[in-house]
Amino acid sequence: MIAERLIAWQQRHGRHDLPWQRTRDAYRIWLSEVMLQQTQVATVIPYFTRFIETFPDVAALAAADVEEVLRLWSGLGYYSRARNLHRCAVEVVQRHGGRFPDDPRVLAELPGIGRSTAAAIAVFAYGARAAILDGNVKRVLCRHAGVHGFPGERAVELALWEIAERELPADGIEAYTQGLMDLGATVCVRSRPLCKACPLADNCRARLDDCVADLPTPRPKKKISQRHCTLLVVRDGSRVLVEKRPPTGIWGGLLSLPEARVAIAASDLNQRLTAEITQRFGLRVGPPQRLAAFEHAFTHFRLTLQPVLFDVQTACAVAEPAAQWLEAHDVGDAALPRPIKSLLLALSTPIRV
Ligand code: ADE
Repeated sequence: MIAERLIAWQQRHGRHDLPWQRTRDAYRIWLSEVMLQQTQVATVIPYFTRFIETFPDVAALAAADVEEVLRLWSGLGYYSRARNLHRCAVEVVQRHGGRFPDDPRVLAELPGIGRSTAAAIAVFAYGARAAILDGNVKRVLCRHAGVHGFPGERAVELALWEIAERELPADGIEAYTQGLMDLGATVCVRSRPLCKACPLADNCRARLDDCVADLPTPRPKKKISQRHCTLLVVRDGSRVLVEKRPPTGIWGGLLSLPEARVAIAASDLNQRLTAEITQRFGLRVGPPQRLAAFEHAFTHFRLTLQPVLFDVQTACAVAEPAAQWLEAHDVGDAALPRPIKSLLLALSTPIRV
């Protein structure tokens, strides 16, 4: 059993002062757990603080405009989480009278709350005896129990859930759960784990078998595809043309630079881009300037983005309904994906010579 050693270790060496700890407020706990899905503590803290200041309770969040939620979320990534966050707040208010349910199975029916997040909320807010299994915990359990096979595979995941359930202590569920998270984040880390500092090292199967570095088994290699696109940076003095992306797909629902429809390999690319801007937006533009291309990695592909800058010569009404002008001084606060925001901020910073 690991609980006793883990709880003792958590009390001495674990984290106790994160902004979502020392509270039983299910709203704060839920918000932090959703933000912490796929995102590290240090990144989450300023976002968490801003959300709590803006939306102090679930009713305030439910009443907010989803656009405002997306704007505050901008930069945290995986934007479906922000949309689900808002939908979940609305459901908690409408279906549960503004109180988060205490049963993890009921929590897991809410938008954006999977089995592990539901368990974490129920443990920290209500002291429920439920098992978590996020990425860090999978790594700890794979190593300690010597589980081989990619944890994304159904059978491996089921085996890990069984272990996670079996190890649950009768008492001290909060410290135990936090201890698993803390051990995974600070000691049993992916590369060069600190086994000498681990309270579970004595009977860690991977350590005894000298295969810590091999576990968890990595995802079977799949070729990551490479995509390219041209971004239209249409500038009119201090403003730049942006458009709202469709609600699904990458950067869903955020503002971004328009993507050119002309294929990047087209001949006379410059002329075609100019023609496209006139046709789509009703704008006459000057000669194109290629800016530095950059890469962005998504889960299943890498995207090379080639921005091309055009200055407007004569402006008419912008023809596309999703398109709008964004003033340089509004870029910092706009709901833009991080790499696009960086590009626009760099563009509006005067170059001193
Ligand atoms: N990762 C996921 N949930 C967490 C929590 N409550 N504290 C620290 N890291 C976490």
